[in-house]
Amino acid sequence: MTRRVYLDHNASTPVHPEVLAEMLPYFGEVYGNPSSIHAFGREAREGVDQARERVARFLNVSSQEIVFTSGGTESDNFAAKGLALARGQGHLITSQIEHHAVLRACKALEAQGFALTCVGVDEFGTVDPDDVRRAIRPDTVAISIMHANSEVGTIQPIGAIGRIAREHGIPFHVDAVQTFGKLPLDVEALGIDALSFSAHKIYGPKGVAGLFIRKGTKMVAVQHGGEHERRRRAGTENVAGIVGLGKAVELRAREMGSEGARIAVLRDRLWDGIRARVPEVRLSGHPVERLPGTASLLFRHVESESIVLGLDLKGVGVSAGSACTSGNVEPSHVLVAMGVPLDWSMGAVRCSLGRSTSAEDIDYLVECVEPLVRKLRQAMPVGAA
Ligand SMILES: Cc1ncc(COP(=O)(O)O)c(C=O)c1O
Repeated sequence: MTRRVYLDHNASTPVHPEVLAEMLPYFGEVYGNPSSIHAFGREAREGVDQARERVARFLNVSSQEIVFTSGGTESDNFAAKGLALARGQGHLITSQIEHHAVLRACKALEAQGFALTCVGVDEFGTVDPDDVRRAIRPDTVAISIMHANSEVGTIQPIGAIGRIAREHGIPFHVDAVQTFGKLPLDVEALGIDALSFSAHKIYGPKGVAGLFIRKGTKMVAVQHGGEHERRRRAGTENVAGIVGLGKAVELRAREMGSEGARIAVLRDRLWDGIRARVPEVRLSGHPVERLPGTASLLFRHVESESIVLGLDLKGVGVSAGSACTSGNVEPSHVLVAMGVPLDWSMGAVRCSLGRSTSAEDIDYLVECVEPLVRKLRQAMPVGAA
């Protein structure tokens, strides 16, 4: 049987067995609607309440400041649109390397009449807080900058940007989908007013997530209906999913410190192994301010998708940083914003490690990459991009 090595944890993670165990009763015996006042409903409500408490404790905020949603994408849309529409009109600031959930939500608001500034990044994918300061206008109504980039792993100077937002009294949203449960997050010290997080990046289930909204932050609902989530997000709660999210968060509080350090060592082993054996390869993203488990590699003169498919045949799951559409290589918006030349960005491959990744997995990846890249380069005329 082919060995299977999963190195795509930034895309999604396996559900932790303890998370699954805690969710299972909510698919069986606990089936009431948490809005119902009878015992069946109250049992489900207890599960939701406990999860909310766990998330709030983890972030050191009040449970009333947590709203559950259907995913990081919804949390990001809710934050951008909820903050902007609460003010009716004005100017928004975000960055060019945001996840599409933020970027396209902001573009949709722009189409509705809001002004939008997308600040750029340097070669490492870092936003300069001074660029954010310079972008501020008297009518700026919200700033949204991600904590860490999912593709290249660069961690943004969120504290400095939060201070600038506070000085100007502008609400500050942070997409922390890639850092929540991986890095320490102090929303108070960092000056964050709204924070998106998602369960499936931290060994919880897919399709459930949350948004921290600081008490007193002016925000409107974007999904209308019943009175759920204190009228901020209508719809019967995904009880089992929310219970899973709560358990996943509790486990992260215990595991994230030691795991981050272990994974960073493996990530460095990966990079050292690749660069020792493969010529013309670079690491993208910030060399130090980077997610512990993310190694984003640029293989010059090779197509990302060919590497991903070649590794797939060897049982290894990684992801491509560039896509091949109608015969043309299209690098991701993140690599374009970082100014990575096409002959390098065409071969962007992201490896993201997780709690089950072992040194043997990394060595196997390195072993597979070297002959694969050599073969692909031989098959591809140099300079073809
Ligand atoms: C930074 C970031 N924001 C938002 C999302 C969207 O989260 P979800 O998959 O839960 O919708 C992702 C998912 O990859 C992400 O990495």
